[in-house]
Amino acid sequence: MKKRDFLKTSIVAASTAFIPQSISAMVKTGNKLRTAHIGVGGMGAADLASIASHPDVEVVGLCDVDSNAISKASKSFPNAKTFKDYRLMLKEMSNDIDAVVVSTPDHTHAPASIMAMEMNKPVYCQKPLAHHVSEVRAMQKIAQEKNLITQMGIQVHSFYDYKLATLLIQSGIIGKVSRVRAWSPKNWGYDGAQPSGSDPIPSHLDWNLWLGTAEERPFKDKVYHPGNWRKLLDFGCGTLGDMGVHIFDTPYNALALDVPNTIKNTCRKPNGFGYPEINKVVYTFPGTPYTTEKFKWIWHDGKGAPKPNKELKLPNKDKLPLQGAMFIGEKGRLLLPHFMQPPRLIVKGEYKEIDVKKYDPEGKLGITINDYERDAPKHYHQFVDACLGRDKASAPFSYAARLTETILLGVIAGRFPNKTLHWDSEKAAFKESKANVFLKGFEREF
Ligand SMILES: NC(=O)c1ccc[n+]([C@@H]2O[C@H](COP(=O)([O-])OP(=O)(O)OC[C@H]3O[C@@H](n4cnc5c(N)ncnc54)[C@H](O)[C@@H]3O)[C@@H](O)[C@H]2O)c1
Repeated sequence: MKKRDFLKTSIVAASTAFIPQSISAMVKTGNKLRTAHIGVGGMGAADLASIASHPDVEVVGLCDVDSNAISKASKSFPNAKTFKDYRLMLKEMSNDIDAVVVSTPDHTHAPASIMAMEMNKPVYCQKPLAHHVSEVRAMQKIAQEKNLITQMGIQVHSFYDYKLATLLIQSGIIGKVSRVRAWSPKNWGYDGAQPSGSDPIPSHLDWNLWLGTAEERPFKDKVYHPGNWRKLLDFGCGTLGDMGVHIFDTPYNALALDVPNTIKNTCRKPNGFGYPEINKVVYTFPGTPYTTEKFKWIWHDGKGAPKPNKELKLPNKDKLPLQGAMFIGEKGRLLLPHFMQPPRLIVKGEYKEIDVKKYDPEGKLGITINDYERDAPKHYHQFVDACLGRDKASAPFSYAARLTETILLGVIAGRFPNKTLHWDSEKAAFKESKANVFLKGFEREF
């Protein structure tokens, strides 16, 4: 089926309001939440382990286009059925699956998640929510209309330090915020030329299924699979769509931002293949109760990021954390390193102690344990518990779609270096019509 067709189907199906059965009934009968996993290598292996570590989960389906990844995952879950095509898994197991986890490269997030949601399955999908703005909006729409439990894979969203920073900002610790500066020196771009020729497709990989809806092209070793696809226009979203999603999350959430009005990316000229290796993206947003009227967001990535700036200067000549975000407010600044370090308050050029008890008197935030292996499962377990009617997902697609759209608009601005683009959220269109072709992806039948 063409992607366009199932997007259409999803809109038709979504128009008949669907109230999902309470999955919590399963727990009463002693049954477990039966999960199916699409992409079980790389981050998918971590996702699988974290979901499966919940005592009320039974992993029933494993899908990967790379048989090496399947073999490895099967060792831990020998009773789960295995597939290389997620469409077959979802069709064949439709009555045996309660929830779906999508951990594939970005260009497959929407096709796989939308198919699962059309079948009324709750979905945990890795970040960024999708590869294109049109897909992000379709995912949000179907999740909302079918009232499905959803969660995006931004596990630090559920970490103590990030929740504390949100509480502090919303309590007005630095007054209204006029600017956020966020940065990562990581480089998920590629300034080189598109490699020519082709390499033999490894026997363990189904290249057609890996490409999915993307345009057909010859296989090249170490260029796409695994992992390097994130540097390339047709499959990933560059550094902004990778580290940016995690680093944007807390300031975006804390300031209750909607999508931006204007976006400008200062980077090299497009080369038609990879993302720029260095980006500076400036966004303006409509004001919120937590920001000043004229609020700006400035992102730097790649080698040398961020550029020195007085707003980033730390007391005692301290070095900036490698990655993170700085809130600049009327009464001071709040530094949020990425990640597993507490936020730091800076007033008049000096650090100030934060009396956490004053902001969280009942200790609702829990304690910081700074142990990734113990903290990360929280976000996954929250999704499972939400499916079982015991909790609420904190990064559902209604939130994840706005955050991802913001990221993707910055990615598109990289196609028009140094030009300010104007975004009309209601029309889902740029004023600069040439940019609108990048809101949708390729729709290959595969
Ligand atoms: N939340 C986080 O901290 C975090 C960390 C790393 C990656 N991620 C996200 O996880 C996703 C995967 O990234 P990765 O680094 O693991 O990539 P990867 O290329 O290393 O692994 C992707 C896996 O999915 C499989 N796959 C590819 N296409 C598939 C398809 N159509 N059907 C089934 N399986 C398919 C691959 O064979 C591979 O096993 C990305 O969206 C990425 O942004 C999130």
